[in-house]
Amino acid sequence: MVRQPSVRPQQEPRPAAPGALPTTAPRRTGSRGEAREILRNPVEASPASVERGLKLYRIHCAACHGPGGQGDGPVVARFLKPPSLTSERAKKYPDGFLYGTIRHGGPKMPSYREGLSDRERWDVVNYLRSLQGR
Ligand code: HEC
Repeated sequence: MVRQPSVRPQQEPRPAAPGALPTTAPRRTGSRGEAREILRNPVEASPASVERGLKLYRIHCAACHGPGGQGDGPVVARFLKPPSLTSERAKKYPDGFLYGTIRHGGPKMPSYREGLSDRERWDVVNYLRSLQGR
């Protein structure tokens, strides 16, 4: 028992074996641009997902983007006015770009890498699509 590899208190957990792949983690997206190109929305735009997205949008996004996505939230007076999220331009963005912007942030917009889970980000994407009438 004494002579065996064991994890001591305060010691890092054992690293994964070389070449091991996560089975539950979301797909890696190195950047906003990469997310735009490679990611497909895995979360069905069900009423429940859109509803979750609406709640998350109100908490995390509306302060800047405004309740209807028009870039008229209260923070804009002290920060930057973001572009409309319901314009013809925004309607043409692939889901992966919306996801990537939330995950990585924009040139000015903060990243929601830690603030939202993978599934929550897709819920917000589904909500933005419903806001756009798509
Ligand atoms: C602190 C203010 C702020 C918050 C909070 C914020 N954004 Fe932004 N967002 C911006 C600004 C400013 C821009 C434009 C500059 C940039 O892209 O960095 C932007 C850009 C975007 C764009 C790209 C629009 C385009 O046409 O290029 C999307 C999509 C977006 N935000 C979605 C979201 C979502 C979804 C949330 C919530 C999860 C969110 N933002 C939270 C400020 C914010």
